[in-house]
Amino acid sequence: MLVDLITSYRKSAAIYAFIDTGLSVHFKNGAYINIDELSRQYGIDNSRLSRLCDYLITIGVLISNNNKVALSDECSALADPESMESLFIKWELSPDCWNAWSMYPKSLIKNDGKSAFEIAHGRPFFEYFDNNKLIKSIFDSAMSKTSDIIVEKLLDIYDFSQYNRILDVGGGEGNLLIKIREKVKEKHYAVLDRYTEIPVSENIDFINGDFLKLVPSGYDLYILKNIIHDWSDKNAILILENCRKAMDNGATVLLINYTKNSQSSMIISLDILMDVLFSGKERFLKEFEYLANQAGLTIKDTKNINELYSIIELSVK
Ligand SMILES: C[S@@+](CC[C@H](N)C(=O)[O-])C[C@H]1O[C@@H](n2cnc3c(N)ncnc32)[C@H](O)[C@@H]1O
Repeated sequence: MLVDLITSYRKSAAIYAFIDTGLSVHFKNGAYINIDELSRQYGIDNSRLSRLCDYLITIGVLISNNNKVALSDECSALADPESMESLFIKWELSPDCWNAWSMYPKSLIKNDGKSAFEIAHGRPFFEYFDNNKLIKSIFDSAMSKTSDIIVEKLLDIYDFSQYNRILDVGGGEGNLLIKIREKVKEKHYAVLDRYTEIPVSENIDFINGDFLKLVPSGYDLYILKNIIHDWSDKNAILILENCRKAMDNGATVLLINYTKNSQSSMIISLDILMDVLFSGKERFLKEFEYLANQAGLTIKDTKNINELYSIIELSVK
């Protein structure tokens, strides 16, 4: 068991190689692929490619039949380069993120508020991405996919039609609002984010800004999806305070994020990722309550979207 734990990174690294070389896209629709042909097509040494495939078979990513291989049903999403799974492995295993892990012990010992990512790259995560467009666009697309997955259930459990002006704070490409707008029309929608190029849309205002400094006023719903976990308590409170300052007394903040509970090993592992990349953290409901109170807000309601995501509705205290 210990050896398995120590060497488990090899699984992610092998999947990354399978995706990053472009090999995975040949495996669409359950296609069985001849390894010899694939190695000729890509100019990859046949024996090395066979050994990679053998390992991917061992870990359940590929299945084999007569010298041909296919993706297992469970891993079929890897054939689509735009699937959430492909985007996440391209992002998490990219040298940009992967190198941060080597600085994790140092960041634990120094404990000066700098994330392992910042120690590795000399700049915090989001500033680093300003000059690294490719990895930023992979990150944005991966985040957009997380909206695709929850939006239907979100629209079932939350009535967005009660609001007229909705701002998605740190809303990236605006995918969440695009999806909400398909169901709830005739509202004013805007996204605040730090943009190097501001997206243009007929239906959504994109606002370039820094939520650590200012959140625009004039909205009755402020959505923060997957935002608070990127930040330390101090900065999370600052962002919520900036929302509070922007809000009229009747306005609402809607947090859409993971909420930690003792059963969720997935969120506990994401918690470490947040620490390594951002000095951020996943939080229990009690911790969200604390942050909200510090910012002059109070929890009005909470609901689960699925086993990972929940919504926490905040109003002015
Ligand atoms: C984890 S992503 C979440 C994106 C989106 N809300 C979602 O869930 O798909 C965090 C977002 O916060 C944005 N962001 C980071 N720092 C920011 C700042 N200081 N001001 C405004 N936006 C910021 C990033 O550019 C990114 O789009």
